[in-house]
Amino acid sequence: MLHARVALNPDSVVAPVSRRTFGSFVEHMGRCVYTGIYEPGHPLADEDGFRTDVLALTRELGVTMVRYPGGNFVSGYRWEDGVGPADRRPRRRDLAWRSIETNEVGVDEFATWAAKADVEIMYAVNLGTRGVQEALDVHEYLNHPEGTHLSELRRANGAEKPYGVKIWCLGNELDGPWQTGHKTPEEYGLLAAATARALRSAEPDLELVACGSSSSSMPTFGAWESTVLEHAYDVVDYVSCHAYYEEHDGDLGSFLASAVDMDHFVNSIVATADAVGARLKSPKKINLSFDEWNVWYLSRFQNAPLPDEWKVAPPVIEDRYSVADAVVVGNLLISLLRHSDRVTAACQAQLVNVIAPIMTEPGGPAWRQTIFHPFARTAALAKGDVLRLDIQSPVYGTARHGDAPVIDAVATHDRATGDVVVLVVNRDQEQPVEFVVDLSAFGTDLAVAEACTLTDDDVRAVNTREEPDRVTLRPLGDVPTGAVTAGGGTVTLTLPRVSWSAVRLTRA
Ligand code: AHR
Repeated sequence: MLHARVALNPDSVVAPVSRRTFGSFVEHMGRCVYTGIYEPGHPLADEDGFRTDVLALTRELGVTMVRYPGGNFVSGYRWEDGVGPADRRPRRRDLAWRSIETNEVGVDEFATWAAKADVEIMYAVNLGTRGVQEALDVHEYLNHPEGTHLSELRRANGAEKPYGVKIWCLGNELDGPWQTGHKTPEEYGLLAAATARALRSAEPDLELVACGSSSSSMPTFGAWESTVLEHAYDVVDYVSCHAYYEEHDGDLGSFLASAVDMDHFVNSIVATADAVGARLKSPKKINLSFDEWNVWYLSRFQNAPLPDEWKVAPPVIEDRYSVADAVVVGNLLISLLRHSDRVTAACQAQLVNVIAPIMTEPGGPAWRQTIFHPFARTAALAKGDVLRLDIQSPVYGTARHGDAPVIDAVATHDRATGDVVVLVVNRDQEQPVEFVVDLSAFGTDLAVAEACTLTDDDVRAVNTREEPDRVTLRPLGDVPTGAVTAGGGTVTLTLPRVSWSAVRLTRA
């Protein structure tokens, strides 16, 4: 058995947990909206056509904020197509996903859904084919109280009160040549700054997100952020990060260490943003909005081009997730939490059907994919302050990320309740690890209130419509190679191979 240890200290704090870390993403893409959150003819649809089974799962997932309406989709989107009488809304081509957008769901419907799901809206404006004026228009429609053309239009459409959307994305992935309206960093930086200034004239305390690179593999990664921020530093609050991970060529070891890459990504963009701040002699810090992250088998998608036929809501990138994928998702959340001093917003992409924790069948059931479980438990348990950890762990060699620790973990401490939570992965493919957590700095009265794990003999096991609970969380002490014991100011966890686990300790 391998061994690892860590000592927790309540005075060694990274930052408070930001509730916006548990964001998700609803794009007009594939079946995320239509037959995902919205399916009027479904037996479980409510009076507005929203699937109540999906709403219930969204709440169970613990999602706090949802980015909308894209994604690549937003770069060709006309928001005004989606407001007013449904029978007069135009059908349009969506060039991003080669589908037909009916506009049956628009921003008013989405806001109604968001209120039911109890999530904050993160709204993305189109800076691909559009610019400052259209961003101001959608802001006037959503947030201006009354007495102007577009605020009165909203009221006439049934929303008397403004929606009060606080956090806005200034476009999406405009560094990408695939993006409708793709721009150079100079073009985008100037447009983002002009749009931010205009939006701030309307509402000074908005929180604005400038597009960072669409992935760390872009040749302009870092340089793009630097140029964009040179133009927009004073008027934006966030720069976005997007990262998707997959197992390449059966290299599970590298895949399990994906969070090493996410850590590196975050550190690189923090350093880039701070360097721009230093050049501008600004005391301000730009935070990171990691507003697209997940496991996505992108290489399969790239090898299977979009269908020739233009259809409404065709199935697109409906990845089925395994145990290993769920362990990686849990680990990516550990990485995001570890960086809570600078990553203060994040969105798992996406919520339903499209690379998603929730799957639906049109007219049929909804179920939880494996990746649902670590997200839901993390969102429920991580509260209070994120603690700074110095984990002593064995390492293993990976082809993509160099030496990676076998154990990765994050801990939170809620001063209000006294609860301590440890979220941890064992990346070893062969054997369990004994992980000793020294809690003596908290006194000796902490007892284990919950210890659960996601693991399986078959790391490729998935959940399906027929077997929706094949992979789920189980008590750590109930799985063959798992155990938890506490006493004398320590808790000792025996963590199964390829597992994600969560432990909550509370005052006895
Ligand atoms: O989430 C799927 C797509 O990935 C988004 O539309 C785009 O922003 C990213 O490339």
